[in-house]
Amino acid sequence: MRRFEGRVAIVTGAGQGIGRALARGFATEGAALVVAELDAARARRVEQEIVQEAERAIGVPTDVSDEKAVTNTVETAIREFGRIDVLVNNAGIFPLSPIETMAEDEWDRVIATNLVGVFLCSRAVVPHMLTQGGGRIISLASGRAFEGAVHGAHYAASKSGIIGFTKSLALELAPHGITANVLCPGLTDTAQPRGHDLTDEEIYARGAKIPLGRIGQPDDLVGPALFLASDPARHITGQTVLVNGGSIMW
Ligand SMILES: NC(=O)c1ccc[n+]([C@@H]2O[C@H](COP(=O)([O-])OP(=O)(O)OC[C@H]3O[C@@H](n4cnc5c(N)ncnc54)[C@H](O)[C@@H]3O)[C@@H](O)[C@H]2O)c1
Repeated sequence: MRRFEGRVAIVTGAGQGIGRALARGFATEGAALVVAELDAARARRVEQEIVQEAERAIGVPTDVSDEKAVTNTVETAIREFGRIDVLVNNAGIFPLSPIETMAEDEWDRVIATNLVGVFLCSRAVVPHMLTQGGGRIISLASGRAFEGAVHGAHYAASKSGIIGFTKSLALELAPHGITANVLCPGLTDTAQPRGHDLTDEEIYARGAKIPLGRIGQPDDLVGPALFLASDPARHITGQTVLVNGGSIMW
């Protein structure tokens, strides 16, 4: 019996990178997947990848910062699969701007996607988890929450906010069997760092400074996420787990 047979997971921002790896990882363990992704073509592509592996998935174009879109995604999950056991808040953006020229629009967009999105998605799934008597919420923050980010004040603020939000969720929902935890990737080999004009050589060179000798791959997050969502992790809540090859030890 696979670990998530009969369970349903929503992964936001699952059209590429870490979210795609997480969606495929849960599907491989038997979960039905809701691929909640801003880019409709990516949502469809990951849905198809999972379905071709004979697992259940539906791609639902979703902007996590849009309350109506989030409601639609959660309703679709319930209509298609009947329950929601796991929410992975993975969608995130990381533009760079020096603080003195950072446009308020950009600040708002980062907070809306990275932090308000986590709030809206969590709020939307909790009633279903309460009815079911349990659930798992896992949110992706970042090492930037601890160390800050040059030209990424909005990003670091949003990721720190996720940690405080998660501790509050954990306290509030513990009596109902719902756990909430944070995963913090280190530098990971996806489109996100490439958006910062880093060449592949520069990205991989950073791995040499990481104690375990390399930058992360999206699959490095899969085992930790599956564990936090699994029955053996039932007594773990409000925690922040760093998956970064030892680059920050907290
Ligand atoms: N890659 C890294 O080095 C790294 C490091 C630390 C933390 N993280 C965090 O991990 C998560 C995944 O990062 P990644 O590297 O896979 O990113 P990515 O840019 O490769 O993928 C992010 C996905 O989220 C989607 N998305 C963006 N805005 C959205 C919205 N409003 N609603 C729904 N989907 C939206 C994008 O379309 C994209 O498919 C993010 O929260 C990121 O901040 C990444």
